[in-house]
Amino acid sequence: MGKEIKKIGVLTSGGDAPGMNAAIRAVVRKAISNGVEVVGVKKGYMGLLNNEIVPMDAHSVSDIIQRGGTILGTARCKEFTTEEGQAQGAEICRQNGIDGMVVIGGDGSYRGAQALSKHGINTIGLPGTIDLDISCTDYTIGFDTAINTAMEAIDKVRDTSSSHERCSIIEVMGRNAGYIALWCGVANGAEDILLPEKYDFNEQKIINNIIANRKRGKTHHLIVNAEGIGHSTSMARRIEAATGIETRATILGYMQRGGNPTCRDRYFASIMGALAADILCEGKTNRVIAYKNGEFVDYDIDEALAMQKSISDYEYDVSLALSRSRMEIGK
Ligand code: ADP
Ligand code: F6P
Repeated sequence: MGKEIKKIGVLTSGGDAPGMNAAIRAVVRKAISNGVEVVGVKKGYMGLLNNEIVPMDAHSVSDIIQRGGTILGTARCKEFTTEEGQAQGAEICRQNGIDGMVVIGGDGSYRGAQALSKHGINTIGLPGTIDLDISCTDYTIGFDTAINTAMEAIDKVRDTSSSHERCSIIEVMGRNAGYIALWCGVANGAEDILLPEKYDFNEQKIINNIIANRKRGKTHHLIVNAEGIGHSTSMARRIEAATGIETRATILGYMQRGGNPTCRDRYFASIMGALAADILCEGKTNRVIAYKNGEFVDYDIDEALAMQKSISDYEYDVSLALSRSRMEIGK
Protein backbone atom coordinates (compact mmCIF):
# COMPACT_ATOMS: atom_id res chain seq x y z
CA MET A 1 0.00 0.00 0.00
CA GLY A 2 1.19 3.54 -0.77
CA LYS A 3 1.58 6.78 1.14
CA GLU A 4 -0.57 7.88 4.08
CA ILE A 5 -3.56 9.91 2.89
CA LYS A 6 -4.50 12.97 4.95
CA LYS A 7 -6.24 15.17 2.43
CA ILE A 8 -8.06 14.40 -0.82
CA GLY A 9 -9.66 16.45 -3.57
CA VAL A 10 -12.68 15.80 -5.75
CA LEU A 11 -13.37 17.23 -9.20
CA THR A 12 -15.86 16.79 -12.02
CA SER A 13 -14.59 16.89 -15.61
CA GLY A 14 -15.96 16.70 -19.17
CA GLY A 15 -19.71 16.88 -19.77
CA ASP A 16 -21.79 17.16 -16.60
CA ALA A 17 -24.18 14.33 -15.76
CA PRO A 18 -27.11 14.02 -13.34
CA GLY A 19 -25.89 12.17 -10.27
CA MET A 20 -22.49 13.86 -10.14
CA ASN A 21 -23.65 15.80 -7.07
CA ALA A 22 -24.65 12.58 -5.33
CA ALA A 23 -21.17 11.23 -6.07
CA ILE A 24 -19.46 14.38 -4.73
CA ARG A 25 -21.56 14.17 -1.56
CA ALA A 26 -20.63 10.52 -1.04
CA VAL A 27 -16.91 11.15 -1.61
CA VAL A 28 -16.90 14.06 0.86
CA ARG A 29 -18.90 12.38 3.62
CA LYS A 30 -17.20 8.97 3.37
CA ALA A 31 -13.70 10.48 3.37
CA ILE A 32 -14.58 12.65 6.39
CA SER A 33 -15.92 9.59 8.20
CA ASN A 34 -12.55 7.92 7.43
CA GLY A 35 -10.80 10.85 9.16
CA VAL A 36 -9.53 12.39 5.92
CA GLU A 37 -9.82 16.08 5.00
CA VAL A 38 -11.55 16.94 1.68
CA VAL A 39 -11.35 19.84 -0.76
CA GLY A 40 -13.33 20.48 -3.93
CA VAL A 41 -11.63 21.51 -7.15
CA LYS A 42 -13.81 23.81 -9.25
CA LYS A 43 -14.25 23.42 -13.04
CA GLY A 44 -12.30 20.21 -13.59
CA TYR A 45 -8.65 20.25 -14.58
CA MET A 46 -8.95 23.89 -15.65
CA GLY A 47 -9.86 24.87 -12.09
CA LEU A 48 -6.98 22.77 -10.80
CA LEU A 49 -4.51 24.66 -13.01
CA ASN A 50 -6.07 27.93 -11.81
CA ASN A 51 -5.84 26.82 -8.17
CA GLU A 52 -9.63 27.07 -7.69
CA ILE A 53 -9.75 24.87 -4.60
CA VAL A 54 -12.34 25.12 -1.84
CA PRO A 55 -12.67 23.35 1.51
CA MET A 56 -15.51 20.83 1.74
CA ASP A 57 -17.23 19.58 4.88
CA ALA A 58 -20.28 17.43 5.51
CA HIS A 59 -22.50 20.52 5.48
CA SER A 60 -21.12 21.81 2.15
CA VAL A 61 -22.75 18.85 0.38
CA SER A 62 -26.14 19.20 2.08
CA ASP A 63 -29.19 19.54 -0.14
CA ILE A 64 -27.43 18.53 -3.38
CA ILE A 65 -28.22 14.82 -3.83
CA GLN A 66 -31.42 15.64 -5.72
CA ARG A 67 -29.88 18.29 -8.00
CA GLY A 68 -28.69 17.85 -11.58
CA GLY A 69 -25.44 19.38 -12.85
CA THR A 70 -22.39 19.58 -10.60
CA ILE A 71 -21.92 22.02 -7.74
CA LEU A 72 -18.19 22.03 -8.47
CA GLY A 73 -18.67 23.06 -12.09
CA THR A 74 -16.95 21.26 -14.94
CA ALA A 75 -14.87 22.11 -17.98
CA ARG A 76 -12.84 20.73 -20.82
CA CYS A 77 -9.18 21.74 -20.50
CA LYS A 78 -6.79 21.32 -23.40
CA GLU A 79 -3.80 22.41 -21.36
CA PHE A 80 -4.16 19.38 -19.12
CA THR A 81 -3.55 17.05 -22.08
CA THR A 82 0.04 18.33 -22.21
CA GLU A 83 2.93 17.04 -20.11
CA GLU A 84 3.56 20.56 -18.72
CA GLY A 85 -0.08 20.99 -17.74
CA GLN A 86 -0.13 17.65 -15.95
CA ALA A 87 3.12 18.36 -14.06
CA GLN A 88 1.75 21.75 -13.05
CA GLY A 89 -1.52 20.14 -11.88
CA ALA A 90 0.40 17.68 -9.69
CA GLU A 91 2.53 20.50 -8.29
CA ILE A 92 -0.59 22.51 -7.40
CA CYS A 93 -1.96 19.45 -5.59
CA ARG A 94 1.28 19.19 -3.59
CA GLN A 95 1.22 22.91 -2.75
CA ASN A 96 -2.32 22.45 -1.38
CA GLY A 97 -1.35 19.33 0.58
CA ILE A 98 -3.63 17.15 -1.60
CA ASP A 99 -2.48 13.52 -1.51
CA GLY A 100 -5.18 12.07 -3.73
CA MET A 101 -7.95 13.06 -6.12
CA VAL A 102 -11.31 11.56 -7.09
CA VAL A 103 -11.98 12.41 -10.73
CA ILE A 104 -15.59 12.10 -11.86
CA GLY A 105 -15.90 12.01 -15.65
CA GLY A 106 -15.49 9.91 -18.76
CA ASP A 107 -12.58 8.22 -20.54
CA GLY A 108 -10.87 11.55 -21.29
CA SER A 109 -10.99 12.53 -17.63
CA TYR A 110 -9.55 9.10 -16.71
CA ARG A 111 -6.53 9.88 -18.89
CA GLY A 112 -6.01 13.04 -16.88
CA ALA A 113 -6.27 10.97 -13.66
CA GLN A 114 -3.76 8.49 -15.06
CA ALA A 115 -1.34 11.38 -15.75
CA LEU A 116 -1.77 12.83 -12.24
CA SER A 117 -1.05 9.40 -10.76
CA LYS A 118 2.16 9.17 -12.82
CA HIS A 119 3.14 12.52 -11.31
CA GLY A 120 2.74 11.19 -7.78
CA ILE A 121 -0.82 12.22 -6.90
CA ASN A 122 -3.03 9.26 -6.06
CA THR A 123 -6.15 9.13 -8.24
CA ILE A 124 -9.41 7.22 -8.46
CA GLY A 125 -11.82 7.67 -11.39
CA LEU A 126 -15.60 7.53 -11.16
CA PRO A 127 -17.67 6.93 -14.33
CA GLY A 128 -19.65 10.13 -14.91
CA THR A 129 -21.22 10.49 -18.34
CA ILE A 130 -24.70 10.25 -19.83
CA ASP A 131 -23.24 8.37 -22.82
CA LEU A 132 -22.59 4.97 -21.13
CA ASP A 133 -19.49 4.76 -23.32
CA ILE A 134 -16.93 3.68 -20.70
CA SER A 135 -15.83 0.16 -21.56
CA CYS A 136 -14.97 -1.17 -18.11
CA THR A 137 -18.43 -0.56 -16.63
CA ASP A 138 -22.03 -1.56 -17.33
CA TYR A 139 -23.26 1.63 -15.61
CA THR A 140 -22.25 5.29 -15.79
CA ILE A 141 -23.56 8.09 -13.58
CA GLY A 142 -26.22 10.06 -15.47
CA PHE A 143 -27.20 7.56 -18.16
CA ASP A 144 -30.37 6.46 -16.38
CA THR A 145 -31.61 10.02 -15.90
CA ALA A 146 -30.73 10.97 -19.49
CA ILE A 147 -32.62 8.04 -21.04
CA ASN A 148 -35.67 8.72 -18.89
CA THR A 149 -35.62 12.42 -19.80
CA ALA A 150 -35.22 11.59 -23.50
CA MET A 151 -37.88 8.87 -23.35
CA GLU A 152 -40.45 11.29 -21.92
CA ALA A 153 -39.58 13.92 -24.52
CA ILE A 154 -39.87 11.40 -27.35
CA ASP A 155 -43.32 10.29 -26.10
CA LYS A 156 -44.41 13.91 -26.41
CA VAL A 157 -43.05 14.28 -29.93
CA ARG A 158 -44.82 11.04 -30.85
CA ASP A 159 -48.20 12.50 -29.81
CA THR A 160 -47.93 15.48 -32.12
CA SER A 161 -46.35 13.40 -34.85
CA SER A 162 -49.39 11.07 -34.84
CA SER A 163 -51.88 13.96 -34.82
CA HIS A 164 -50.26 15.48 -37.91
CA GLU A 165 -49.47 12.14 -39.55
CA ARG A 166 -45.84 13.13 -39.77
CA CYS A 167 -42.58 11.32 -39.74
CA SER A 168 -40.32 12.43 -36.87
CA ILE A 169 -36.59 12.11 -36.58
CA ILE A 170 -35.45 12.62 -33.01
CA GLU A 171 -31.75 13.01 -32.39
CA VAL A 172 -30.41 11.97 -29.01
CA MET A 173 -26.96 12.53 -27.50
CA GLY A 174 -24.23 9.97 -26.97
CA ARG A 175 -21.20 11.37 -28.79
CA ASN A 176 -19.94 8.37 -30.85
CA ALA A 177 -21.94 5.80 -28.90
CA GLY A 178 -25.48 4.62 -29.59
CA TYR A 179 -26.56 3.49 -26.10
CA ILE A 180 -29.02 6.34 -25.48
CA ALA A 181 -30.48 5.87 -28.97
CA LEU A 182 -30.84 2.11 -28.53
CA TRP A 183 -32.50 2.30 -25.12
CA CYS A 184 -34.86 5.10 -26.13
CA GLY A 185 -35.54 3.59 -29.53
CA VAL A 186 -36.75 0.38 -27.89
CA ALA A 187 -38.51 2.11 -24.98
CA ASN A 188 -40.32 4.55 -27.28
CA GLY A 189 -41.25 1.91 -29.83
CA ALA A 190 -39.43 3.67 -32.67
CA GLU A 191 -39.90 2.38 -36.18
CA ASP A 192 -36.21 2.96 -36.96
CA ILE A 193 -33.25 3.24 -34.59
CA LEU A 194 -30.02 4.56 -36.08
CA LEU A 195 -26.86 3.75 -34.15
CA PRO A 196 -23.33 4.79 -35.18
CA GLU A 197 -22.15 1.26 -34.39
CA LYS A 198 -24.68 -0.36 -36.75
CA TYR A 199 -26.04 2.09 -39.30
CA ASP A 200 -25.30 1.18 -42.92
CA PHE A 201 -26.28 4.64 -44.28
CA ASN A 202 -28.87 3.04 -46.56
CA GLU A 203 -31.51 5.78 -46.39
CA GLN A 204 -33.56 4.06 -49.09
CA LYS A 205 -34.36 1.23 -46.64
CA ILE A 206 -35.77 3.80 -44.20
CA ILE A 207 -37.77 5.46 -46.95
CA ASN A 208 -39.22 2.08 -48.03
CA ASN A 209 -40.10 1.37 -44.41
CA ILE A 210 -41.91 4.69 -44.03
CA ILE A 211 -43.91 4.18 -47.24
CA ALA A 212 -44.83 0.60 -46.26
CA ASN A 213 -45.95 1.77 -42.81
CA ARG A 214 -48.09 4.55 -44.27
CA LYS A 215 -49.78 2.11 -46.69
CA ARG A 216 -50.65 -0.05 -43.70
CA GLY A 217 -52.34 2.95 -42.11
CA LYS A 218 -49.75 3.88 -39.52
CA THR A 219 -50.15 7.56 -38.62
CA HIS A 220 -46.65 8.27 -37.39
CA HIS A 221 -43.14 7.09 -38.08
CA LEU A 222 -40.61 7.62 -35.36
CA ILE A 223 -36.90 7.50 -36.12
CA VAL A 224 -34.51 7.75 -33.18
CA ASN A 225 -31.19 8.94 -34.55
CA ALA A 226 -27.95 9.02 -32.57
CA GLU A 227 -25.81 12.16 -32.37
CA GLY A 228 -22.90 10.10 -33.72
CA ILE A 229 -24.79 9.88 -37.04
CA GLY A 230 -26.28 13.37 -36.80
CA HIS A 231 -27.54 15.34 -39.84
CA SER A 232 -31.15 14.84 -38.71
CA THR A 233 -32.38 18.06 -40.36
CA SER A 234 -31.00 17.26 -43.80
CA MET A 235 -32.14 13.65 -43.42
CA ALA A 236 -35.68 14.94 -42.72
CA ARG A 237 -35.60 17.06 -45.88
CA ARG A 238 -34.51 14.11 -48.03
CA ILE A 239 -37.08 11.76 -46.50
CA GLU A 240 -39.89 14.29 -47.02
CA ALA A 241 -38.85 14.77 -50.66
CA ALA A 242 -38.71 11.01 -51.29
CA THR A 243 -41.91 9.99 -49.46
CA GLY A 244 -44.13 13.05 -49.79
CA ILE A 245 -44.80 12.71 -46.05
CA GLU A 246 -44.17 15.75 -43.85
CA THR A 247 -41.01 15.02 -41.89
CA ARG A 248 -39.61 16.98 -38.96
CA ALA A 249 -36.35 16.74 -37.06
CA THR A 250 -36.09 17.38 -33.33
CA ILE A 251 -32.66 17.56 -31.74
CA LEU A 252 -33.15 17.00 -28.01
CA GLY A 253 -29.75 18.43 -27.07
CA TYR A 254 -28.71 19.57 -23.61
CA MET A 255 -32.04 18.93 -21.90
CA GLN A 256 -30.81 15.31 -21.77
CA ARG A 257 -27.90 16.31 -19.52
CA GLY A 258 -29.89 18.26 -16.95
CA GLY A 259 -32.60 17.61 -14.41
CA ASN A 260 -32.97 15.81 -11.12
CA PRO A 261 -31.20 12.46 -11.10
CA THR A 262 -33.29 9.29 -10.96
CA CYS A 263 -33.22 7.09 -7.89
CA ARG A 264 -30.88 4.67 -9.68
CA ASP A 265 -28.40 7.47 -10.50
CA ARG A 266 -28.50 8.82 -6.94
CA TYR A 267 -28.02 5.35 -5.44
CA PHE A 268 -25.25 4.14 -7.75
CA ALA A 269 -23.41 7.48 -7.54
CA SER A 270 -23.59 7.30 -3.74
CA ILE A 271 -22.22 3.76 -3.51
CA MET A 272 -19.52 4.39 -6.12
CA GLY A 273 -18.52 7.73 -4.57
CA ALA A 274 -18.15 6.11 -1.16
CA LEU A 275 -16.10 3.26 -2.63
CA ALA A 276 -13.83 5.75 -4.42
CA ALA A 277 -13.22 7.60 -1.14
CA ASP A 278 -12.51 4.33 0.68
CA ILE A 279 -9.94 3.00 -1.74
CA LEU A 280 -8.29 6.41 -2.10
CA CYS A 281 -8.04 6.69 1.69
CA GLU A 282 -6.46 3.20 1.74
CA GLY A 283 -3.64 4.60 -0.40
CA LYS A 284 -4.57 3.01 -3.73
CA THR A 285 -3.97 4.93 -6.95
CA ASN A 286 -4.57 4.77 -10.70
CA ARG A 287 -7.86 2.88 -10.20
CA VAL A 288 -11.40 3.37 -11.51
CA ILE A 289 -14.66 2.30 -9.93
CA ALA A 290 -16.97 0.25 -12.14
CA TYR A 291 -20.18 -1.74 -11.98
CA LYS A 292 -19.59 -5.03 -13.76
CA ASN A 293 -21.78 -8.14 -13.85
CA GLY A 294 -23.89 -6.90 -10.95
CA GLU A 295 -21.02 -5.92 -8.65
CA PHE A 296 -19.15 -2.76 -7.69
CA VAL A 297 -15.48 -3.31 -8.51
CA ASP A 298 -12.30 -1.35 -9.19
CA TYR A 299 -9.82 -1.71 -12.03
CA ASP A 300 -6.42 -0.33 -12.86
CA ILE A 301 -6.96 2.75 -15.08
CA ASP A 302 -4.53 1.48 -17.75
CA GLU A 303 -6.44 -1.81 -17.96
CA ALA A 304 -9.80 -0.03 -17.91
CA LEU A 305 -8.79 2.25 -20.78
CA ALA A 306 -7.64 -0.73 -22.85
CA MET A 307 -11.00 -2.52 -22.50
CA GLN A 308 -13.53 -2.53 -25.35
CA LYS A 309 -17.29 -2.74 -25.33
CA SER A 310 -19.92 -2.50 -27.99
CA ILE A 311 -23.67 -2.61 -28.49
CA SER A 312 -24.86 -6.20 -28.03
CA ASP A 313 -25.78 -7.81 -31.37
CA TYR A 314 -28.67 -9.61 -29.67
CA GLU A 315 -30.12 -6.41 -28.20
CA TYR A 316 -29.81 -4.67 -31.55
CA ASP A 317 -31.53 -7.59 -33.32
CA VAL A 318 -34.34 -7.39 -30.77
CA SER A 319 -34.74 -3.68 -31.48
CA LEU A 320 -35.20 -4.52 -35.18
CA ALA A 321 -37.56 -7.42 -34.52
CA LEU A 322 -39.85 -5.35 -32.30
CA SER A 323 -40.54 -2.86 -35.07
CA ARG A 324 -43.68 -4.50 -36.56
CA SER A 325 -43.27 -3.21 -40.11
CA ARG A 326 -39.71 -4.46 -40.30
CA MET A 327 -40.92 -7.87 -39.17
CA GLU A 328 -43.42 -7.92 -42.02
CA ILE A 329 -41.28 -6.50 -44.80
CA GLY A 330 -37.93 -7.84 -43.61
CA LYS A 331 -34.86 -5.91 -42.51
P1 ADP B 1 -14.88 12.84 -20.81
O1 ADP B 1 -14.13 12.82 -19.55
O2 ADP B 1 -16.36 12.95 -20.62
O3 ADP B 1 -14.47 11.74 -21.76
P2 ADP B 1 -13.35 14.71 -22.41
O4 ADP B 1 -12.86 13.67 -23.37
O5 ADP B 1 -13.74 16.03 -22.94
O6 ADP B 1 -14.59 14.22 -21.55
O7 ADP B 1 -12.19 14.90 -21.32
C1 ADP B 1 -12.37 15.77 -20.25
C2 ADP B 1 -11.06 16.42 -19.92
O8 ADP B 1 -10.12 15.42 -19.50
C3 ADP B 1 -10.36 17.13 -21.06
O9 ADP B 1 -10.87 18.42 -21.27
C4 ADP B 1 -8.94 17.18 -20.57
O10 ADP B 1 -8.76 18.22 -19.62
C5 ADP B 1 -8.81 15.84 -19.87
N1 ADP B 1 -8.20 14.89 -20.78
C6 ADP B 1 -8.73 14.35 -21.89
N2 ADP B 1 -7.84 13.56 -22.53
C7 ADP B 1 -6.71 13.62 -21.82
C8 ADP B 1 -5.41 13.05 -21.98
N3 ADP B 1 -5.11 12.24 -22.98
N4 ADP B 1 -4.48 13.34 -21.03
C9 ADP B 1 -4.78 14.14 -20.00
N5 ADP B 1 -5.96 14.73 -19.81
C10 ADP B 1 -6.93 14.47 -20.70
O1 F6P C 1 -20.42 13.32 -23.10
C1 F6P C 1 -21.66 13.89 -22.88
C2 F6P C 1 -22.08 14.71 -24.06
O2 F6P C 1 -23.34 15.32 -23.78
C3 F6P C 1 -22.18 13.94 -25.38
O3 F6P C 1 -23.36 13.18 -25.47
C4 F6P C 1 -22.07 15.07 -26.38
O4 F6P C 1 -21.52 14.61 -27.58
C5 F6P C 1 -21.11 16.01 -25.71
O5 F6P C 1 -21.15 15.74 -24.32
C6 F6P C 1 -21.42 17.47 -25.93
O6 F6P C 1 -20.42 18.20 -25.35
P1 F6P C 1 -20.43 19.78 -25.11
O7 F6P C 1 -21.04 20.02 -23.78
O8 F6P C 1 -18.99 20.17 -25.13
O9 F6P C 1 -21.23 20.38 -26.22
